[in-house]
Amino acid sequence: MTTVAGAEAKEVELARTGDRSGRAVYLETYGCQMNVADTELVSSILTDAGYRIVDRPDEASVILINTCAVRENAEERVIGRISQLNGLRARTPELTLGILGCMAQHLSRTLPERAPYVDLVVGPDSYRRLPSVLAQTADEPLLDVRLNRVENYVGVAPARSTGTNAWITIIRGCDKFCSFCIVPYVRGRERSVDSREILRQANDIAAEGVREITLLGQTVNSYDDGTMAFASLLRAIGAVEGIDRIRFTSPYPKDFTEDTIAAMAEVPQVCPSLHLPVQSASNSQLESMHRGYTIEEYEELVLRLRTAIPDLALTTDIIVGFCGETEDDFQATYELMERTRYDSAFMFKYSERPGTAAHRSLQDDVPEEVKGERLQKIIELQEAICLEKNQALIGKTVEVLVEGVSKRRRDDSPETAQRLYGRSELGKTVIFDGPAEANSLRLVRVDEVTSHTLFGQLTIDR
Ligand code: 5AD
Repeated sequence: MTTVAGAEAKEVELARTGDRSGRAVYLETYGCQMNVADTELVSSILTDAGYRIVDRPDEASVILINTCAVRENAEERVIGRISQLNGLRARTPELTLGILGCMAQHLSRTLPERAPYVDLVVGPDSYRRLPSVLAQTADEPLLDVRLNRVENYVGVAPARSTGTNAWITIIRGCDKFCSFCIVPYVRGRERSVDSREILRQANDIAAEGVREITLLGQTVNSYDDGTMAFASLLRAIGAVEGIDRIRFTSPYPKDFTEDTIAAMAEVPQVCPSLHLPVQSASNSQLESMHRGYTIEEYEELVLRLRTAIPDLALTTDIIVGFCGETEDDFQATYELMERTRYDSAFMFKYSERPGTAAHRSLQDDVPEEVKGERLQKIIELQEAICLEKNQALIGKTVEVLVEGVSKRRRDDSPETAQRLYGRSELGKTVIFDGPAEANSLRLVRVDEVTSHTLFGQLTIDR
């Protein structure tokens, strides 16, 4: 295995003069929104170095997969996909196939064995060096997975896909070390991006006509660059002319301050929707997960949030079958979901990750069938709650940020009608008959719902 240590000094020159620039690059992204935002950074770094980004793998001579390591099945999907893409070598013999991101970091040692046709493996703190890595040739896979305590990609303008929403990464890494979670090991220590950089990006985004910003971080509300904490940043972005909607994901319950609740309530652009991962409602599970809060504290926070922001749409993440989870522990989670009535939830079976504290010191002892049954039960419960919550919106008017033409049709809509979709302030997908311009804010009266989608008609123009 070859590392690129030592190549750093001449990286930029190499990239610019390397005879391999000008090649077509295809990027594919798995995992969370931060990975989507990271792919935008990679795209910008490579374009600056003379590469061309293409939309199809069969048009590319460089294929880079930005990966997720959070659960085992995410990794398996990627391994399958790489093997499939490797088939393109028949028509593109000079193909370079690379793995980026969390899985690169996590599996740097074993990946070359599991996927021997991978040419390079580059972790989330090494993207600036990608042009120099790509400019090198080696018989063995090139590996660059050093984590870096300060890399925030300041000065790299992400190549954002034009649309209605722009992502801004405001904090990278994670210091929480929840016992089930691989993120601190693959994304390194928590560090906040300089608020001046964030505000510069927010102003650029507004100037491009994008109306919605989503602030990103593994623990987004832990943001503090030494001059501004998260609440002040929300207020500062609220003051940027042209930004109509501000969202953020994902906050960490323990780090939710009164001031952040106040900022959410008082800054009109901050959407009344919040993803607040709970993971479990059993205190013994929360403790062995190292979450740092009790379920009473979590529910008290939910109450304060719902008091300050009455229409708040609340979503969450839940893990079932974590080490030692009893029937009673699971029941507590089920009952929390009944009480809290989340607008939606991402629900997972616990997947043991080598390298984490749980892997080192706890037993993954809940049988796979029990994990499956528990997951099924909460999925059914949540589906019913989603439907009821959406049904309560029938007859109401919601403000929609129009995104584009929907592929989904409704039986009763006229043949000629233009079916559009967008998102409501609560973050729900809304499908309605046009005409309406993409990127405009329009009012839609909801007349039909499913558990995940609202349907309606435009009402009076604004
Ligand atoms: N197994 C299952 N789910 C996990 N998550 C994180 N790590 C694991 C794991 N090892 C879930 C958590 C987190 C979400 C992004 O993924 O619910 O909030």
